[in-house]
Amino acid sequence: MILSGRAALAGVLGWPVSHSKSPRLHGYWLERHGIDGAYLPLPVAPENFATAVRALVDLGFRGANVTVPHKEEALALALADEADDNAKRIGAANTLVFRDGRIVASNTDGFGFLANLEQGAPGWQPEAPALVLGAGGAARAVIVALLDSGCRELRLCNRTAARAEVLRDTFGGSVRVVPWEEREAALTDLGLLVNTTSLGMEGQPPLSLDLAKLSASAVVNDLVYAPLETPLLAAARRQGNPAVDGLGMLLHQARPGFEAWFGVRPEVDAALRDFVLAG
Ligand code: ATR
Repeated sequence: MILSGRAALAGVLGWPVSHSKSPRLHGYWLERHGIDGAYLPLPVAPENFATAVRALVDLGFRGANVTVPHKEEALALALADEADDNAKRIGAANTLVFRDGRIVASNTDGFGFLANLEQGAPGWQPEAPALVLGAGGAARAVIVALLDSGCRELRLCNRTAARAEVLRDTFGGSVRVVPWEEREAALTDLGLLVNTTSLGMEGQPPLSLDLAKLSASAVVNDLVYAPLETPLLAAARRQGNPAVDGLGMLLHQARPGFEAWFGVRPEVDAALRDFVLAG
């Protein structure tokens, strides 16, 4: 990578950030498009977050991605300037664009989630009932995206029911809370099943869920991408259900930021997936 004095700069703010795939992902696109720019890992402790963001603005960065544990703080910081509706509804921001000294926040997780589904399961029916497992930050982005896509009935199921109830009260409409013990009964008539919990992730127990009641056409999407083929996705494939892994959401959510900072709308393809996975 050779930069000129006019190089466009961006990066990812996290604590820690060493596990992040974003530098490799954006680096691939920068090289593929021959862009005079760089995307850096930016490890920043929570107590330094606001100072670090203001320093990036002063340094002339185009913007930054924000990951754990800074996403809520990023929204709070940008609210004085500008934040998009998705970030406000989700309560967190993952993308910051610096414009004329102002911090503009957005949340592209829902975009990434939907784009991944459209790419991985083109026949997916957005209006059909969906079952979302989990009620953390990832679930919030998924719920907003599904409701905006016209989902008629969103079944929300979390080990701690109170967290699901908070989300139902926040998003209302077609969100219905299902007790964790009744998750298998809630598989009937589904168009989509999404796991947003950490179950199935490396080092975590698998999600215990018998898919016998799942409709034949229901799409199964796991947000977990390490491992890429979770026990849930493997079980779905064994039953013949379309299964979509979680890596695509990570790759697609990065596209709007890259376009805003570097001026090119990048694509997600098999070569990019292989490159990111190899890192
Ligand atoms: P994120 O912001 O990434 O979504 P999170 O807020 O830590 O992460 O949420 C993790 C989700 O995984 C939660 O829905 C959590 O359920 P609780 O709200 O009951 O904690 C779920 N989860 C984690 N471990 C679990 C387990 N062993 N069984 C069931 N659900 C689990």
